Amino acid sequence: MEVTLRIRRYNPETDTEPHWESYTVSAQPTDRILDGLHKVKWEQDGTLTFRRSCAHGICGSDAMRINGRNRLACKTLVKDLDAFTQMGDGSLVPGKPISIEPIKGLPVLKDLVVDMEPFFEAYRSVLPFLMPSGSEPTRERLQSPAERERFDDTTKCILCAACTTSCPVYWTDGQYFGPQAIVGAHRFIFDSRDAGAAERLEILNDTEGVWRCRTTFNCTDACPRGIEVTKAIPEEKRALIFGRS
Ligand code: SF4
Ligand code: F3S
Ligand code: FES
Repeated sequence: MEVTLRIRRYNPETDTEPHWESYTVSAQPTDRILDGLHKVKWEQDGTLTFRRSCAHGICGSDAMRINGRNRLACKTLVKDLDAFTQMGDGSLVPGKPISIEPIKGLPVLKDLVVDMEPFFEAYRSVLPFLMPSGSEPTRERLQSPAERERFDDTTKCILCAACTTSCPVYWTDGQYFGPQAIVGAHRFIFDSRDAGAAERLEILNDTEGVWRCRTTFNCTDACPRGIEVTKAIPEEKRALIFGRS
């Protein structure tokens, strides 16, 4: 079976504007979009540029906008994108082309590769590291299962940027920290071993911080790790008003 990949291309050395190019590749319904991109790059056009590393949903490097929605190319299957139509006799015929473009809201460097620096800058700004109090312990810092559970969801983040670059507030206001930075702060604010919650909450209280969220839910829908971003954000808002609980 063949599918058509419609890919947004941009080469800063030769193009003034991005443009779309279509490629036809052979694919099985259970192939991943990353497989199709590799086929284009390895068999048709070696100049096609995109990031990927682990190919198993762990490194977070291949977030892209596929059929208008942020997803990881290595976790998105062809069969989930209407690229085939099943006929009455069970046979498959090619369906709609699959559109693939870079994630929005960050500068495009080339083809599907964006400049992640503004995203990482927002992440760094919330101090995403443990800030324990007291002197260095002689053994590990103890934590009960319930205390560990408190921030379990937000530890799953792989820094793929699918959430932040699906947020309409981030698109219109690049100064907004974005949902990932808020998730990154949540992971430490609710860690019982950490003493930096007040400092981080003060950072989130900025005019471009947590109050800019308009609860549009795009971030939760986009997260490939299933993190409930729109649950974490109000927990931090509540912590700002009532203190950490
Ligand atoms: Fe990616 Fe989810 Fe982390 Fe956002 S919260 S960066 S979507 S893993
Ligand atoms: Fe943006 Fe998510 Fe809030 S998409 S507006 S951060 S709910
Ligand atoms: Fe690592 Fe997709 S290549 S998450």
